[in-house]
Amino acid sequence: MAGLKFGFSSSLCECAVSRIAYVNGRYVSQRDAVIHIEDRGYQFADGVYEVCEVLQGALIDEKRHLDRLAYSLGELQIAAPLRTGALPVVIREVMARNRIENGYIYIQVTRGVAPRDHAFPPKSVRPSLIVTARASDPKKNETTARTGISVVTAPDLRWKRVDIKSISLLPNVLARQFARERGAYEAWLIDSDGMVTEGAASNAWIIKADGTIVTHPADHSILRGITRTTLIEVIAAQGLKLEERKFSLAEAFMAREAFITGATTLIMPIVRIDGQPIGAGVPGPVALKLRAIFHEAAARSS
Ligand code: PDD
Repeated sequence: MAGLKFGFSSSLCECAVSRIAYVNGRYVSQRDAVIHIEDRGYQFADGVYEVCEVLQGALIDEKRHLDRLAYSLGELQIAAPLRTGALPVVIREVMARNRIENGYIYIQVTRGVAPRDHAFPPKSVRPSLIVTARASDPKKNETTARTGISVVTAPDLRWKRVDIKSISLLPNVLARQFARERGAYEAWLIDSDGMVTEGAASNAWIIKADGTIVTHPADHSILRGITRTTLIEVIAAQGLKLEERKFSLAEAFMAREAFITGATTLIMPIVRIDGQPIGAGVPGPVALKLRAIFHEAAARSS
């Protein structure tokens, strides 16, 4: 109650400092930001997004995130929302206006506003663009990594083009909620052949008894994570063995280590899958080492 009285408890802090969003050409307070009810993102989840880490005022792997955004837009035939070079300027302005030192930038592009009709609207309809920012405490993430996380498994109910970072995330939402209700941090999605594809919002990895690191190939059935791509370079530089191939849940139970990767989690060790301890049941040394050195390899742009 003391926090309420003074209005500055940590949970209230974010609201006390008005958050600024870029919404279709204007920088507005999030309280005042509005989206048209006929935006196709709202009506059809017809859009794509990116989440990019900000660390010590720098964007992590910005180019790779922007390249993936261009890929997702291209696959869905959505036009680029701004001319080349303008989006990085908007991102920096949103970072500055929200005074983000550590946190995340969220970028969302939809096919725009048009009377509801499943087929594409005319080319004259411009895509909608929003950019928001959120501060985070890197120390909190570190504490979680030192303890390790639990995952539970759930069927992969998604469509067959999840390489596109679409805002259509209902199966991911349901899987994450399934995990939350079971006290787990993440859900690992299992395909119809019993193979682990990825997490609800992260890529999935195991380390076998012989030290080989295994992760699902970046085909149409997983998102090609940016953290994943950079980590593959780190793994090669460390002289570790990597296999990009499918692995089963049975293989995961036998693994020495397991972990997830993502822009918001980085490399996060797993200590339990479906209640069963993985390896020694504590965060594995290889996952922790990769986590510790990850940012040395990732590109920073400010
Ligand atoms: N999610 N797979 C899925 C399904 C994801 O949603 C994400 C990221 C990843 C990891 O990708 P990256 O390393 O580029 O963050 C893999 C973001 C963080 C999100 O939806 O919030």
